[in-house]
Amino acid sequence: MTGNKKDNNIIQSIQWIDDHIRILDQTYLPEREVFLDIYEVGRVWEAIRSLRIRGAPAIGIVAAYGVYFGMKGFEEKSYWDFETELKRTCEYLASSRPTAVNLQWVLDRAMRTAHAMREKPTIQIKTQLLRQAMAIHEMDKQICAKIGRLGQDLIPDGAAILTHCNTGSLATGKYGTALSIIYHAHFAGKKIHVWVGETRPILQGSRLTSWELLKSDINHHVIADSMAGWVMYNKQVDMVLVGTDRVASNGDTANKIGTYGLAVLARHHGIPFYVAAPLSSIDMSLSSGKEIPIEERDGEELRKIGRQMTAPDKSPVYNLAFDVTPHELITAFITEKGIVKPDFTQNLAALFQKK
Ligand code: MRU
Repeated sequence: MTGNKKDNNIIQSIQWIDDHIRILDQTYLPEREVFLDIYEVGRVWEAIRSLRIRGAPAIGIVAAYGVYFGMKGFEEKSYWDFETELKRTCEYLASSRPTAVNLQWVLDRAMRTAHAMREKPTIQIKTQLLRQAMAIHEMDKQICAKIGRLGQDLIPDGAAILTHCNTGSLATGKYGTALSIIYHAHFAGKKIHVWVGETRPILQGSRLTSWELLKSDINHHVIADSMAGWVMYNKQVDMVLVGTDRVASNGDTANKIGTYGLAVLARHHGIPFYVAAPLSSIDMSLSSGKEIPIEERDGEELRKIGRQMTAPDKSPVYNLAFDVTPHELITAFITEKGIVKPDFTQNLAALFQKK
């Protein structure tokens, strides 16, 4: 859909410029658009860890550049020294956030690429790591556009869609996953309305998704997370559409905390619940969601909003960043290779065989 007039306002939150990446620092949104130039792996780690850049595909993209930054200064030695250092760099980047499998997917690819080039001078391997990062970045834009085009067929004209967290251009190379579907329905001229769950505690919904929707003139309302059940009860929601950080091979889906609750509510109210998932977010090595590592974040995220205390300083906090929605609650996955309905164990496996 590039070239469409309405496409002009879709931002790209990660750019490669000459010898570094420039990211839109999401911790300042929606108040200010602050860009950050990153030249080294430590800064990539910090940007992922502190959610300056976030969303599973975007984390993968910047990590791919991070691998290159980590290795570019490596002095010419034996390949095996190079591989040891590369492994150390990948382990370091993997430690930034555990749940999104896209990160591990990118790091595994870097290790495999280097190993396949082990007979070549390390300078060539470094160049290839950069090319690979650029290719992953570019491919993500195309995958997101494809998910958007395929998924928008599921959205009837006039539909009201409830979404959670931010799954848009900020979270990917461009367009997003679940939000790409919303963008593409809008590009197709459908009149849609989006309920944007605020997504406590970091407010990716109210700070980021509404910021993106506003830029593209897409009709929406921000709601408190606790209002989701009530809009469903009042028949104001036709579908729930979310993204994911990791899907197990049986379809169990990790996504931003609160997603599970929305899926239960959707089932209770007979509303379809869709997950937009690039193949890079599907982890076929896991048999169920029980094996997905769930990130626990600092309690300060719940005790404060800015300088304002929202809980007593001394109250213990349990702050999981993600939950896992059991596959039985999911209507279908929307991937770049098509829409996948149950039986997920069988149909996700078939997806990976598909050309
Ligand atoms: O903690 P975040 O903001 O990185 O969590 C992001 C999500 O849960 C998204 O829904 C998911 O990564 C998909 S983004 C296309």
